[in-house]
Formats: sequence, structure tokens, C-alpha cells
Amino acid sequence: MENIIELRDVWKIYDLGKIRIEVLRGINLEIKKKDFALILGPSGSGKSTLLNMVSCLDVPTEGKILLDGKDVSRLSEDDLAGVRGKKIGFVFQQFNLLPHLTALENVTLPTVFQGVTGEEREKRGKDLLVSVGLGERMNHRPAELSGGEKQRVAIARSLVNEPEIIVADEPTGNIDSKTGEVIMNILKDLNQKGRTVIVVTHDAELREFSNRVVKIKDGVIDE
Ligand SMILES: Nc1ncnc2c1ncn2[C@@H]1O[C@H](COP(=O)(O)OP(=O)(O)OP(=O)(O)O)[C@@H](O)[C@H]1O
Ligand SMILES: [Mg+2]
Repeated sequence: MENIIELRDVWKIYDLGKIRIEVLRGINLEIKKKDFALILGPSGSGKSTLLNMVSCLDVPTEGKILLDGKDVSRLSEDDLAGVRGKKIGFVFQQFNLLPHLTALENVTLPTVFQGVTGEEREKRGKDLLVSVGLGERMNHRPAELSGGEKQRVAIARSLVNEPEIIVADEPTGNIDSKTGEVIMNILKDLNQKGRTVIVVTHDAELREFSNRVVKIKDGVIDE
């Protein structure tokens, strides 16, 4: 299977005047199409920084990132945003839902920037909410949903532009372990339907859901 993502000697360095923080120190990584990769490491090891590079939220200080063979490590902010919008769906630990929007409005919001028409937008949103078991919660606002339900809304939202890659940063970090399992099974199901999934976590128990574990420690890959 071909590589969907490739990192070549990626460094991320923050220069804070007197001190220089080397957060990623020469990362080489290949993720194949249809992988379910788990990036595992302790707090502060550079997991979120690495995921931000992989998902075009940030660019490296040095090194190359190839997405579908295309170098994205030197793109402008606008071009990066374009790549993200088309190719990548995001799921975050804090859910990042907009509080004044309903579940359905939260899910459909990202399509607004992709020129999807009103009717199609609504259909996609409803189908996705049904697919994550929230058909009865479409008009609830985030405050009227449980943590697990909020994360399912976030997963539905991540899928609305039909991305090839889903990235999730500690998706089970703010929910109990049983609900976490439900979330991981939804991600696993999406992976089995052909999407590449990348999950970042400090929780080694999540490895059973993935087919590939990448360990990171102090900004380098451990294994
Ligand atoms: N903008 C920044 N400027 C300076 N240092 C930063 C910046 N962003 C992150 N760091 C540092 O980089 C290191 C790695 O951060 P990162 O958020 O990638 O860790 P993490 O593995 O995701 O940790 P956690 O499990 O706690 O989320 C930390 O020591 C952090 O303080
Ligand atoms: Mg983090």
C-alpha cells in the first residue's frame, strides 16, 4: 500500500530568545493508506506537535512532509488551509463544538467553506449524525449533550467534507473509558471503511484498536 503521509527528518524548534526548545528532533515516519496508526507517548513528548505537522495545521522548522506525495512543508497558511479542508478531518480532546449551534449545525459548518449547497449540506449532516447514533439529538446544543455524545458530533463533523484522513488528538481524554471504547470503535469502523486514521494518545490501552503503534519520547520516535 502506498504512503499517504511521509515525514522526512522533521524538526520543530521554538526559539524563545534565550532558550531554544527542540520539540521534534528528526522524525521519520511513514503512514500508509488505510492505516489505523496510534501515536503513543507521555505528556510533553511532542505528540500534538507531530499531529499538527501531519495534519497541515503547522509547518516544520526543518525537514519535509509529503501528503499523497506532495510536499506540504513549505506551503503558505492559505494553501495549508485548502489542503486541510479537503483532505483532513479533525477530532479533538475538548470536542471544539460551537456552543450556540445545534449538533446538526456544528456538523455542517465545515461544508460552508467548501461550497456545498444548503440541501446537500443538511442531508450529509443528518446522515452522519444518524450514523454515529445521534439521530434523536440533531437539534441539541453542546450543553445539552453528554461528553460521549459531543465527541460523536465531533466525529460526524470531521467526516462532513469526506476527508481521506481522520486525525484525533486524545479523542478519549475527556470521557470515561467505556464511552472511550465506543468512540474508538466508531473510528475503527471508519478505518475499516477505507479511511486512514491517526490517533494521538498517552493511553497504551488504545493500542488494540490500531494496526500500527508509533512510540514517541522527547521528540524522537522510540520504536
Ligand atoms: N508554541 C510553543 N512554544 C514553545 N514550546 C512549545 C510550543 N508548543 C509546544 N511547546 C512545547 O513542546 C513540548 C511538546 O508539546 P506537545 O503539546 O506536542 O506535547 P504532547 O505530547 O501533546 O503532550 P500532552 O500529552 O500533554 O498533550 C512541550 O514541552 C511544550 O511545552
Ligand atoms: Mg497533546
